[in-house]
Amino acid sequence: MVTKIINYGSLNIDYVYTVSHFVRPGETLSSASLETFSGGKGANQTTALARAGALVSHAGKIGAEGLWLKELLDKENVDTSYIHKSSKSNGHACIQVDEKGQNAIILFAGANKEITKDEINATLKHFKKGDYLLLQNEINNVDYLIEQGHKKGLIVCLNPAPMGKEILSYPLELVDVLIVNETEAKALAMKKDYESALEELEKLYPNTELILTIGQQGVIYSFKGKQVKVPAIKVEVVDTTGAGDTFIGYYLAAKVEGLSVEDCLQLATQASSLCVSRRGAQNSIPSRSEIQ
Ligand code: RIB
Repeated sequence: MVTKIINYGSLNIDYVYTVSHFVRPGETLSSASLETFSGGKGANQTTALARAGALVSHAGKIGAEGLWLKELLDKENVDTSYIHKSSKSNGHACIQVDEKGQNAIILFAGANKEITKDEINATLKHFKKGDYLLLQNEINNVDYLIEQGHKKGLIVCLNPAPMGKEILSYPLELVDVLIVNETEAKALAMKKDYESALEELEKLYPNTELILTIGQQGVIYSFKGKQVKVPAIKVEVVDTTGAGDTFIGYYLAAKVEGLSVEDCLQLATQASSLCVSRRGAQNSIPSRSEIQ
């Protein structure tokens, strides 16, 4: 039977401002350009999954002005039948990108945080034991999704981004695959460096596969005493937006294909290094053929 992946996640309109530096308190800063892209950690990760070749469904909520976000996912052959419509505004992100390609993001959740338990129940009933449920932290009811996903025997994968203190009250012990960056790992483990954060997470969640991305230093996988490290690829950075999402989508697509952990990490690393060499979020996610 085919393994399906359902990503319950955000769909944002990204407004990207090109600036010399991030705006400081009290400063009014002119932007060299303003571009509008489709984004949201959820929709970005779904796009990465689809471009990596996975069979993926996206669930979430859009406002009236966000219909084009759904249509873009349709063009990627994503099953969008679980995307609901809200009378509220669509979620959006105000993104500053500086000269080094780094970003600073303000989020407005909008419709992303209007998801009801009834919608979740009606969606999850279409998925069976062994299918994957991917989650980020840009929608509401993430704790309920973790519980229900686990109850149904889905493989629950969580990227706790953006990191907020509410995440500490989520039933994280039910998560099968936890994908974190350095900041998220330190906040979850309440440690000051990533090495001790990883050790703590291993102790706290012994049944969870941990994937820790550490920027320029690469990525570490850890599960039941097995550790795999893959270095980052050096590229000229244009815009880091969506790089983490690209990594996650590619990693999971490769995992579902049955690739070895090392091959999954390598593929995901290659994909995200291509992503940072381009501007934008979803539009900068490479296709599988570009990587191979
Ligand atoms: O991870 C990048 C994404 O974060 C952007 O697309 C933006 O929408 C924010 O959610």
